[in-house]
Amino acid sequence: MNYRHSYHAGNHADVFKHAIVLRMSQLMQRKEAPYCYLDSHAGTALYDLQAEASGKTGEYLDGIARLWSRDDLPPLLESYVANVRVQNEDEQLRFYPGSPQLIAGGLREQDRMILSELHPEDAATLAAYFAGDSRVGVHHRDGYELAKAFLPVVEKRALWLLDPPFERADDLERCVATMQLAIQRMRQTVIALWYPIKDERLLRDFYRQISAAGLPKVLRVELSVRPADTTLGLNGSGLMLVNPPWPLWEELEQALPWLAGQLAQSGSGAWRLDWLAGEP
Ligand SMILES: C[S@@+](CC[C@H](N)C(=O)[O-])C[C@H]1O[C@@H](n2cnc3c(N)ncnc32)[C@H](O)[C@@H]1O
Repeated sequence: MNYRHSYHAGNHADVFKHAIVLRMSQLMQRKEAPYCYLDSHAGTALYDLQAEASGKTGEYLDGIARLWSRDDLPPLLESYVANVRVQNEDEQLRFYPGSPQLIAGGLREQDRMILSELHPEDAATLAAYFAGDSRVGVHHRDGYELAKAFLPVVEKRALWLLDPPFERADDLERCVATMQLAIQRMRQTVIALWYPIKDERLLRDFYRQISAAGLPKVLRVELSVRPADTTLGLNGSGLMLVNPPWPLWEELEQALPWLAGQLAQSGSGAWRLDWLAGEP
């Protein structure tokens, strides 16, 4: 395991993923009934953007740093950016919340979180961070096991962020199998699978696999900051949203063009929003 999220925290992919997943969690909370948030590849709770790792890549400068003091944010981004501001009360951007902290900030008494992280150091930091909060369970284990271990949840309502580092060649396939199992065990599970946009050929296979996976409804959302197949690294990223809560589509349609324009590193940026399965 080489991947450490501290090198990438707050980059364009985090902005895209975190804003959307946070909004999904808020939409799940429109009902009083409790829900359970699962974060199978949780990373840690809070990242220091002034630490050595962030300093080496400077990725957050082309991500959250471009947005965090803007006052013309589309509604989808408002509460996400407000959450980052809460971590930086002296108005200097230094701390960036990872997905567990971002979602925990809005957790109600009746809600619950299940976090798993395989890296021993990050798992320990995460466990220490949430120690004493009985709503949060931190597990030092393989995130792909969560469907079998925890679904169906007693709340019958779940949002799962599936966010592996894609270090292994078979990660996309493992994600498809994991989503199939999750849906088999609890059909109404809402899933957000994050994936990198680098190699177009690999992605085409992945799209085919998702379309054929028998998942009930799948919304594909993508944001690119550079043209496809630029060889510099991460040209963009996507989320496959299974059973996305309404009215996410409308909010995304408004936010994505704005975000593409703000985060573009070459050209004008691009975005995509369409149904891969179960178009309503
Ligand atoms: C992309 S990062 C997670 C970022 C985090 N979800 C966020 O949005 O703030 C992926 C994390 O998965 C962890 N990881 C890698 N393989 C794993 C596995 N099989 N099970 C659980 N965690 C794993 C890595 O150590 C890393 O912290």
